[in-house]
Amino acid sequence: MSRTTWKSKFGFLMAAAGSAIGLGNIVFFPANAYRFGAGAFYLPYLIALILLGLPIIIMELGIGRVFRKGFPSSMNEVAGFKGEMTGWFAILNSSVITMYYITILGWVLGMLIRSFSSLWTQVAVPEFGIEAGTASIGISHFFSIISSPGTVALVFVVWVLNIFCILKGTKTIEKIVKVLVPSMWVFMIIMIVRGLTLPGGFEGMLLLFTPDMSILSSLEVWKGAFSQIFFTLSLGFGIMTTYASYLPKKSDIVNDGLSVTFMNCTFEMIAGIAIFTLLFAFSISPKASTLGMMFFVMPEGIAQFPGVTVQLFGILFFTLLLSAGLTSSMSLLETVASAVIDKFAISRKKALGIIFGVGLSGSIMFSLPFVVDPELNASGTLGLTLLDFFDHWAFGYGLLLTGLVQTILISWIFGAERMRSVLNEYSKWKIGKWFVPLVKFVIPAIITVLLVSGIVGEFSGLYGHSSTGNIDNLHIFALIAWILFTVGGSFILAKMKERRQA
Ligand code: TRP
Repeated sequence: MSRTTWKSKFGFLMAAAGSAIGLGNIVFFPANAYRFGAGAFYLPYLIALILLGLPIIIMELGIGRVFRKGFPSSMNEVAGFKGEMTGWFAILNSSVITMYYITILGWVLGMLIRSFSSLWTQVAVPEFGIEAGTASIGISHFFSIISSPGTVALVFVVWVLNIFCILKGTKTIEKIVKVLVPSMWVFMIIMIVRGLTLPGGFEGMLLLFTPDMSILSSLEVWKGAFSQIFFTLSLGFGIMTTYASYLPKKSDIVNDGLSVTFMNCTFEMIAGIAIFTLLFAFSISPKASTLGMMFFVMPEGIAQFPGVTVQLFGILFFTLLLSAGLTSSMSLLETVASAVIDKFAISRKKALGIIFGVGLSGSIMFSLPFVVDPELNASGTLGLTLLDFFDHWAFGYGLLLTGLVQTILISWIFGAERMRSVLNEYSKWKIGKWFVPLVKFVIPAIITVLLVSGIVGEFSGLYGHSSTGNIDNLHIFALIAWILFTVGGSFILAKMKERRQA
């Protein structure tokens, strides 16, 4: 069975950019920027991009181009059992992220459906003591969606859409991304023009670029910026390796890595401006939470538009989120599919069946509508509470941990110098000698500091959730479940015997 390849370079670039551009660009970036002192966030962000983002994306692409296998099998070539286990860890950890990412997309779909009619008036949600007319538009609808059993159906629909997009691998992916990714730019440009022409919009943009330098001494800001770079560029997921494994052997991946990074980060800046203009124009102060940005703040801003433009922009915004999310989530499902097919030589149909079954169950867990916190002190429903806890470990630690171990294995076992020559083989821009100390020492040191500071913070309750009773038990359950699933699962999968392709 030969591997499929991308039909065109454009198709590959749109797929990789589609993976990178996601909810991270449209909501997490502006939310983080706001939370961490607006303009000041740019500095750590840019440093993280140059020191970590660019070298790692190029290495991940390089591994895929050379070995032309799924992520765990490629990492096996890099460093044997250790490498393969790291590969499976990355895949299982990102599967957890994908499960709840798809749940969030289910809620986005719910908001999109309501945008056509009722979203612009408040509803009552008696489960949470929200009466009609008391809470903001977004808040009332969001909690009404997540606490209704129908939310499971929404999640099911998004899963079916995802599987449909990767049904025939690169063939279907390429068709979908060629339409969705360029339209996302068009949508975003409409949003930014609208934002900048609002009274006060321009000042909002300036706010985004006005640094508050005092915040730079906080380690949490730096950890935020580095995690954001990992997430937004889809690093630590194994995705870039998988997508590059479908490239022709003689591809210039240095150039590809730069192009994808450029598209992703430009989109992120544009999204940041669009959202800050809106916030400022309507003097809304976003809650620190990122979900709040997407579901409460934006609808509140859009609802203040004149006349029919409310519905128009509402539908536009949620369609944008859904498309951006879909092209990201499907990139990971393809990564899992290729990993399983390459190791166990099963048919694509069977692989997709397994992924659908396991993944959908996980997403349903994150959408369980039972109310656990009627006062809304924390998350409200059981699903959202679990989502918060799993996100804390999988996003906050898993991605950085993958990045750390994979960088060490590549630079020390495979060899940094050898990696450099692989990268330079067909590239127009040659990577200089600085690459070697950067990946051998600087990147591992930075990630170690961030991880250690995070763990120290856990003990002093700095980043930890402060809650009591049953919710605490849930937090412990999430931690144990995450470790068993990722570390235990990756050990077992790496131990299993590879089945040769017939
Ligand atoms: N880069 C995406 C973003 O910015 C995140 C992402 C990429 C992702 N691939 C994914 C999230 C797979 C979940 C599953 O949003």
